[in-house]
Amino acid sequence: MDIIRTVEWMKQVARAARSEGRILGFVPTMGALHEGHLSLVRAAQLQCRPVVVSIFVNPIQFGPGEDFERYPRQFERDCALLESLAVDYLFAPEAGELYPAGFRTYVHVEGLSERLEGRSRPGHFRGVATVVLKLLEIVQPTFAYFGRKDAQQARIVRQMVADLNLDTQIQVSPIVREPDGLAMSSRNAYLQGAERQAATALFRALTAARREIEAGERDALRLVAAMRAVLDREPLVATDYAEIVDADTFEPVLRLRSTCLALVAAFVGNTRLIDNMVIGPVDDELKVEI
Ligand code: PAF
Repeated sequence: MDIIRTVEWMKQVARAARSEGRILGFVPTMGALHEGHLSLVRAAQLQCRPVVVSIFVNPIQFGPGEDFERYPRQFERDCALLESLAVDYLFAPEAGELYPAGFRTYVHVEGLSERLEGRSRPGHFRGVATVVLKLLEIVQPTFAYFGRKDAQQARIVRQMVADLNLDTQIQVSPIVREPDGLAMSSRNAYLQGAERQAATALFRALTAARREIEAGERDALRLVAAMRAVLDREPLVATDYAEIVDADTFEPVLRLRSTCLALVAAFVGNTRLIDNMVIGPVDDELKVEI
């Protein structure tokens, strides 16, 4: 696996692959790789060759007081994992390579960026959209792979790609979970002792909503109440939001009619976690598991 540190070198490699008619796959990450990331790499390898993975802890998607400084950085371990999967290229630029002095251009996807994660983390999606656009412009992959744990991020990236007429297809892969249901996340590494067990409350809240739906409940407020009841029972958990939204618009719904997402965000101790589940009929566009 070649480790590429500069934008110019990455562009050259990608250009060469495209000129040979190859189908380039791209998996953007912030490192601290786990099985969720590896599932994206495997999905890419089924469709593409070569596959480029990026590791870049993007400073502009973290707000003041968030965990940019302490975000887990495990470069050697990540490289070994990617080598073991026979990934072709790792793009790992320094911050100054993507944001040189004088950088001034940011991307904002209106509407979708303001709710849920966007409301709790102002500026987060501006940082995500900006770095994803830059990475897609540098690599120009045929396919780029995102995890559905960050469902709102995936929706925003799809919207940006459509709006800006980018020649990349966005593929969204199912959430990968620990055996007890906790969604895999690099931030799970922060969870200490009892917090790890308490963190399963997010998944338990989502499954409580799904159980209600299976029992015939269609009223979104009652489903939200069922989720909140599970979260509120955990003393170590402080709920940020629990919502049922339309899977396309991310606007709250009153009744389940179309494909919806149940979304939760909560602090477990100092660690902020998110999770979601598709509820209602499956929409192929979202490539969901149900
Ligand atoms: O999901 C992530 O890890 C990040 O938000 C991404 C897409 C790599 C952009 O920094």
